Amino acid sequence: MNMEPRSVRFSQTTLTELMIPSYANFGGKIHGGILLSLMDKVAYSCAARHAGNYCVTVSVDGVDFLEPVEVGDLVSLHASVNYVGRTSLVIGIRVIAENVRTGIQRHTNTSYVTMVAKGSDDKPALVPELLLENEEDARRFLEAIKRRELKETYRHAFDNAKTRLAVKENLDKLSDHRCVVGWQTKNKDAK
Ligand SMILES: CC(C)(COP(=O)(O)OP(=O)(O)OC[C@H]1O[C@@H](n2cnc3c(N)ncnc32)[C@H](O)[C@@H]1OP(=O)(O)O)[C@@H](O)C(=O)NCCC(=O)NCCS
Repeated sequence: MNMEPRSVRFSQTTLTELMIPSYANFGGKIHGGILLSLMDKVAYSCAARHAGNYCVTVSVDGVDFLEPVEVGDLVSLHASVNYVGRTSLVIGIRVIAENVRTGIQRHTNTSYVTMVAKGSDDKPALVPELLLENEEDARRFLEAIKRRELKETYRHAFDNAKTRLAVKENLDKLSDHRCVVGWQTKNKDAK
């Protein structure tokens, strides 16, 4: 396999799809799951081009749908490799919805998909290095490193908090929330 570094441009991919009525939910807007599926497709195409191998999706970060997408919109998903590790790649995806009548384009979300390349033995396979051609490429690579570090910190903090979370001692924290404790809790003062 060719292991020469590959540029971001080499694998940049855009997928454009018309939002047809069968993609809509009962409220007439496009299902989030349709967009997730398109994001997965474009991330795969971009990652597989860079890797020169099949890839699998490991995780998806930053999926916040900021604007609803309408039936009749043209949705374009722009994908590029932001970061590569040994066998993993982070693909940044920018989603734009366009109203063809008005020409107005709306940025609905930017998300980051981590993919892992797999060799013919089905094991994670080495991917080519990323050739950074300008400061923008370098900024995205550095941001991906930062995001990965923050995610790791969050994961440790959350795992620790979860294992130490004593439900009985924390029930009073639920009083400000929209839930009802529907079982009998022992009254400490009761004889
Ligand atoms: C992804 C997968 C290959 C990782 O396997 P593994 O035994 O953990 O392999 P490794 O430990 O060698 O990790 C491989 C790479 O994945 C990365 N990785 C593993 N879990 C990860 C996670 N949760 N988030 C981000 N990256 C992750 C590792 O950091 C490593 O990256 P690197 O080589 O660039 O350093 C394996 O978990 C898998 O096949 N998962 C199922 C994927 C799939 O089917 N997706 C479709 C879902 S429907």
